[in-house]
Amino acid sequence: MGDLQRTLGHLRELGVHGIACRPETVCRVASWAALTARSRPAAGRETLAAIRADIGECTRCKLHRSRSKIVFGSGNPKAVLMFVGEGPGQEEDRAGEPFVGAAGQLLTRMIEAMRLSRDAVYIANVVKCRPPGNRTPEADEIATCLPFLRRQIAAVGPRLLCTLGACASQALLGSAEPVSRLRGRIHEREGLKIVPTYHPAYLLRTPEKKREAWEDLKLLMKEYPYEG
Ligand code: URA
Repeated sequence: MGDLQRTLGHLRELGVHGIACRPETVCRVASWAALTARSRPAAGRETLAAIRADIGECTRCKLHRSRSKIVFGSGNPKAVLMFVGEGPGQEEDRAGEPFVGAAGQLLTRMIEAMRLSRDAVYIANVVKCRPPGNRTPEADEIATCLPFLRRQIAAVGPRLLCTLGACASQALLGSAEPVSRLRGRIHEREGLKIVPTYHPAYLLRTPEKKREAWEDLKLLMKEYPYEG
């Protein structure tokens, strides 16, 4: 992984700003990155602040050209449960906070239905800058930003991860399956329990899928260590 990062760094210095590759390749590289991130000893765990500082005023991919604010993530830095979305929308881009628009309000209600609050969990996205017109992030943008999400996951150290929608579910599970096939069960990756579910923006457009999303949240609730 280190050699690959160095090679990509040299290529960037030479002016190469993207490499064409298939989604399966992105997933494969992402799963190597996961192994690297999770094999770090807990005592030497990186802080979220250090990861944010490393991102800086990022220009690593083309999304920087149209963004207003980098949306790093928010919530409990020691959360047991972490939610991962796709990328900031217009309101998040203005606020610099994840999930503050209409989809965010639904996510807040989903979290509260689990008898939790936004302050109890950690929320982040696969890409930290808004894709223009809210388009789906492209493979090179995901590949550039995913290592930072991996490092955030390693820094927070959650036991449970809820991936919202296809982008986050596929990126973190290293799968090309649609979310409708990935949801409904717990996936285990390096000691982490991952529950994919529908993205709240999709649920706003397709309310008949809320029942299935609630089943997914109940899987998480069975695993969550509620006090008392
Ligand atoms: N959609 C996402 O995937 N993330 C956000 O932060 C907002 C909307």
